[in-house]
Amino acid sequence: MNDLFARDSGRPVTGPRTRAGWLSAALGVALVATTVVVASSSASAGTTLATAAGETGRYFGTAVAANKLSDSVYVGILNREFNSVTAENEMKWDATEPSQGQFTFANADRIVNHARANGMMVRGHALAWHSQQPGWAQNMSGTALRSAMVNHITQVASYYRGKIHSWDVVNEAFADGSTGARRDSNLQRTGNDWIEVAFRTARAADPTAKLCYNDYNTDDWTHAKTQAVYTMVRDFKTRGVPIDCVGLQSHFNPQSPVPANYQTTLSSFAALGVDVQITELDIEGSGQAQADNYGRVVRACLAVARCTGITVWGIRDTDSWRASGTPLLFDGSGNKKPAYTSTLNALNGGGTTPPPTTPPPTTPPPTTPPPTTPPPVGACAATVSLNSWTGGFVATVRVTAGSAGLNGWTVAVALPSGSALTNTWSARASGTSGALTFRNVDYNGQLAPGASTEFGFQGTGTGPTGTPTCTAG
Ligand code: G3I
Repeated sequence: MNDLFARDSGRPVTGPRTRAGWLSAALGVALVATTVVVASSSASAGTTLATAAGETGRYFGTAVAANKLSDSVYVGILNREFNSVTAENEMKWDATEPSQGQFTFANADRIVNHARANGMMVRGHALAWHSQQPGWAQNMSGTALRSAMVNHITQVASYYRGKIHSWDVVNEAFADGSTGARRDSNLQRTGNDWIEVAFRTARAADPTAKLCYNDYNTDDWTHAKTQAVYTMVRDFKTRGVPIDCVGLQSHFNPQSPVPANYQTTLSSFAALGVDVQITELDIEGSGQAQADNYGRVVRACLAVARCTGITVWGIRDTDSWRASGTPLLFDGSGNKKPAYTSTLNALNGGGTTPPPTTPPPTTPPPTTPPPTTPPPVGACAATVSLNSWTGGFVATVRVTAGSAGLNGWTVAVALPSGSALTNTWSARASGTSGALTFRNVDYNGQLAPGASTEFGFQGTGTGPTGTPTCTAG
């Protein structure tokens, strides 16, 4: 589901673009969200990665290391360009539970607090993973390890309940190569159901976070590993295991380039009814070749409505886990690289690099005649559930169609004085304080009689009171 940021650069809208102008620009882009965007519009062009992505209803994030938050160049770029952060290492098992049952969140909190103070959302990474386990867990097995995993997920996801947009619940659980098998690990040896247990545990601990399966080498649709993850997600959806999203890490280099079928991978996962997030993007290289590859990845995401956001794995090349490959958007001095410009242009739907695989049609595409009978429009109801903490809240709103079904809906909600909206997902928001309205996005407006959908929003202060009103159309 697409997240539509009700702000500029992750902060409340200020400056020359009016709220109405911003919203109409966003709506305009949403109309073409399922096709490759090639038209450029200076009226809606974002000047930063976050604003440009926000115009399309998506977030643009980066991995952050807590010990770099004292680096003013790093923080300057972070605050200017990004509206989502992922802790690069600080939320991992070894960092948060170095001794069994002893939880330390100081470094992760520095990142979360910085994000929240600057209106950015937070991706949680990662609750259960074979790597970066604390020594005590590495030495465990069987039911003791299973219990330790469940307790770890419960404690960490509960501690951050309401503050995490999406959790990488399970990371890198499949083997590389042609087998399509699970990766052997101490967690896997606790039983094949460890992944679904992890997801159910995370849902119970934080019902509002989107729960993702995250992996690398799952970008090429034809690879056995990609197919194995797809099969697992399909099975989870069929059996009701709570999974909301698939994270494609998307670490690319000359040996593992951006595949030609990358968009097919994104759209195929999305068709299972999960969001797709590009979670750790970096592309080794330099100059125009690297820039072109970044553009391709961004355009693939924009072409898939449920590709809801992109996170790059670091800010400057020198911040990267593989710095020698210069894989990021800013050089070691913090200057924008050609890859940055290509990424921004792609987010803005134009630029100098044409889409590489889709030649312009020589004949105009067939037009779809308007339906002769308009779809039924009926009444609807909305209910809200709140997760609140001191100074903020996450609201989840359930919209249910009446007996005639729905072809679009609008929900009105009132925020108390002093509260402010900071972000929205699966709906388009209008207003940031007081009376707010939320309209459906393209994929959740049509509801069969009695069917439901959900959207959410996050804010500072206290959450809405009273029952929201829902209007059809
Ligand atoms: O902080 C210590 C430092 O005190 C010590 O002197 C130094 C000596 O090697 O190590 C430092 O810790 C390193 C840590 O990064 C912080 O820089 C660890 O050794 C190093 O192993 C660790 O690497 C991280 C890696 O995950 C571990 O698997 C990378 O920063 C991080 O970018 C990387 O992120 C992963 C994602 O979580 C999952 N997907 C792949 C991605 C890239 O490998």
